[in-house]
Amino acid sequence: MSITLDIKLKRADKIYSEADIVSGILVIDTNSDFKHDGITLTMEGSVNLQISSKNVGIIEAFYNSVKPIQLLNVTCDVTQAPGRIPAGVTNIPFEIPLKPKPNRVLYETYHGVYVNISYSLRCDIKRSFLSKDLQKCQQFFVQYKPGSASCPQLPLKDNRKPVSFELSPKNLASGGSGAPDFLLRGHLDTVCCNISKPFKGQLTLVRCAAPVRSIELQLVRVETCGCAEGYAREATEIQNIQIGDGDIAQNIPILIYMVFPRLFTCPTLITTNFKIEFEVNIVVVFEDDHLITNNFPIILVRE
Ligand SMILES: *[C@@H]1O[C@H](CO)[C@@H](O)[C@H](O)[C@H]1NC(C)=O
Ligand SMILES: *[C@@H]1O[C@H](CO)[C@@H](O)[C@H](O)[C@H]1NC(C)=O
Ligand SMILES: *[C@@H]1O[C@H](CO)[C@@H](O)[C@H](O)[C@H]1NC(C)=O
Repeated sequence: MSITLDIKLKRADKIYSEADIVSGILVIDTNSDFKHDGITLTMEGSVNLQISSKNVGIIEAFYNSVKPIQLLNVTCDVTQAPGRIPAGVTNIPFEIPLKPKPNRVLYETYHGVYVNISYSLRCDIKRSFLSKDLQKCQQFFVQYKPGSASCPQLPLKDNRKPVSFELSPKNLASGGSGAPDFLLRGHLDTVCCNISKPFKGQLTLVRCAAPVRSIELQLVRVETCGCAEGYAREATEIQNIQIGDGDIAQNIPILIYMVFPRLFTCPTLITTNFKIEFEVNIVVVFEDDHLITNNFPIILVRE
């Protein structure tokens, strides 16, 4: 006997916003009929936090604040009563409104290193004790509706002015020791970014005493787990894009252009138990491997 169970969502992109109806069909394909003791559909969503190993020593102090945070937990009986599924393909339509638990917010789906926010549908077909229960999971994605106040407490939210920068050995945090004499000028279009639009700007190597091998744009996530009792803050690289390669010509503008990768970014999120923030580094690598970095905290918004 072979039975396959599938959950097919109506939306091909599987993206939903709070208050949307998540609809689709359960598809049961079996080569012979079988008895069941009830079919349920569970919609779940949670934030999972993890402390990096280097912070494990301090974890006991705030263990409670790194427990998973459940955002959504709804179970529906597709059929409560025991019954029989006939041989062949059976389609069972379903519709579940996407609503958070009381006092919770459905944050956007996000796949990070120390913080994950994920949503899924699970179908369980219970069977009598001699047969194995059947289970199938299907992930879906949550996105804020553009314009909904996603994170009201964000600083800089209205700062849409271009940000100019000038980099030279004398304004490096490291004091520029070992760096050749150089001057890099540029601007970012904004540091408060529409997550569905590319990150843009421009830079120019005005002068440089040594050959530059590469100019890179690095997108970094800064994840904080914990709360007032203690916290762990970790910055890790999401992606690194080379915007200038080889012996970079002087006084020729170089475009800064980067698309925010889906799932690995989300609107900047600051809550009492965790934070997800983003930064951009502009990295200049000289021929002799000497490397200088300039860091820009950015804010991502869904608008
Ligand atoms: C998040 O998911 C990734 C990939 O599935 C996994 O490597 C990571 O450990 C998860 N982190 C948490 C905090 O669950
Ligand atoms: C989700 O809700 C069900 C009952 O509807 C409950 O049995 C289960 O423990 C809940 N899950 C969590 C993680 O709270
Ligand atoms: C953000 O970007 C999306 C996609 O390009 C666009 O539809 C939307 O209008 C933008 N929002 C604002 C406020 O510019």
